[in-house]
Amino acid sequence: MYKISPSILSADFSNLESEIMKTVEGGADYIHLDVMDGIFVPNITFGAPVIKKLRKITDKPFDVHLMIDRPERFIKDFVEAGADILTVHQETSIHLHRTIQEIKSYGIKAGVSLNPSTPVETIEHILGNLDMILIMTVNPGFGGQSIIKEMKNKVTKLKSIIEEKNLDIEIQVDGGIKLDNIEEVRNWGANVFVVGSGIFGSEDIKLETIKYKKIL
Ligand code: DX5
Ligand code: ZN
Repeated sequence: MYKISPSILSADFSNLESEIMKTVEGGADYIHLDVMDGIFVPNITFGAPVIKKLRKITDKPFDVHLMIDRPERFIKDFVEAGADILTVHQETSIHLHRTIQEIKSYGIKAGVSLNPSTPVETIEHILGNLDMILIMTVNPGFGGQSIIKEMKNKVTKLKSIIEEKNLDIEIQVDGGIKLDNIEEVRNWGANVFVVGSGIFGSEDIKLETIKYKKIL
């Protein structure tokens, strides 16, 4: 099943509740929450306390994307804040297998994200433990960037590995996904689409979410 995960990074932060609810009304499957620390990526957003407050407004799964150095320091905080899927970057956690085990031990879903320059082979040893793999289709840090089309090879490769091993892992893509390329990216093999500026940058957030859902 194809899913849309609107990224609130491009939302109006003074109106988060109403903007998130518009995406829910438009059929959003997950809510994508980008946590940035100014170290791993050149931008700072929000942390667990903000997510905990947002948790009250909807039951939609919270898809938390941690772009922070040594995320193992904060796993428990994000679980307690209400994350349903917690995704860490391969590049940020030296003992990645242990970090994933910790996430799973709390009974939530675990994801790993790969920067554009990080090959799929770096996570082959943990595939059996993962619920989702996030292929970055831009360099992480900001919304509104253009998709890196070269990520096609990575997504198709990952898709064939998952099929070959008969694993149940979602393939998420994040960065530069727009109405004019989402079908193409779906054909690469992704099934969860993060959309930030494409949805929150539009005039009518609910209608735009519906358009993304319809096209899939
Ligand atoms: C970028 C974030 C994305 C971002 C995507 O580092 O991980 O989730 O919000 O924004 P768009 O869809 O505008 O590229
Ligand atoms: Zn993201």
